Amino acid sequence: MKIVIANESHFKYAQIISDTITESAKVRGTGIAQRTPEYILKRLQNGNAVIALDDGKFAGFCYIEVWGNKNFVANSGLIVHPDYRKQGLAKKIKKAIFELSRDKFPNAKIFGITTGLAVMKMNYELGYKPVTFSELTNDPDFWKGCQTCKNFDILTRTEQKMCLCTGMLFDPDTKKYKSRKLNGKAFQRLKEMKQNLFLKKKSK
Ligand SMILES: CC(C)(COP(=O)(O)OP(=O)(O)OC[C@H]1O[C@@H](n2cnc3c(N)ncnc32)[C@H](O)[C@@H]1OP(=O)(O)O)[C@@H](O)C(=O)NCCC(=O)NCCS
Repeated sequence: MKIVIANESHFKYAQIISDTITESAKVRGTGIAQRTPEYILKRLQNGNAVIALDDGKFAGFCYIEVWGNKNFVANSGLIVHPDYRKQGLAKKIKKAIFELSRDKFPNAKIFGITTGLAVMKMNYELGYKPVTFSELTNDPDFWKGCQTCKNFDILTRTEQKMCLCTGMLFDPDTKKYKSRKLNGKAFQRLKEMKQNLFLKKKSK
């Protein structure tokens, strides 16, 4: 397995990356924004993405997006192909994209929003903290990316204050965390509370 910084030679993987994200969103049913092949192509060409390949076969992907005058960057679109899940690949991809973000944008705060416990765990271990959405970028283009998520109406209803996703932030100015492990139960409870709160209202 190779995890490399993506470039134009990886354009041929744009379709499978997009399809894998779409399929995973259907299966999981919540909290994954759709990304078209055209959108992925742009992310493959600017040196701000990593791709995992197993002897030329697509295995995983993640990219960096830059927001608010480079004050914030997000590590977005993490996807591992179903054939390669539960083998620690997402963890390696997250580490690679985190290190690329720190190298290229050393002063930026790194953030993400997610409903996925796996991603929360990985972020936490990298030194991210859970934060309210008000601590994340207010760049409208970032939030426009949520429009293709099936929960977008919740974000609109709450005037962008909260949604089913949890915001997580790595602040380069705070002291580096020693390696730490997340107690996933608290996040799981938070997610269930938000689902009860927002999804019940929705079905009324
Ligand atoms: C989420 C995803 C990226 C995980 O990929 P993976 O390669 O299977 O993850 P890893 O094997 O590296 O596991 C990393 C950690 O997450 C945990 N984990 C993995 N899948 C999990 C799940 N579905 N629920 C809870 N924890 C999970 C692992 O146990 C591991 O934790 P540990 O270090 O405490 O053992 C993959 O399932 C995926 O692509 N899902 C669809 C897309 C998605 O949800 N993307 C995230 C959008 S925010």
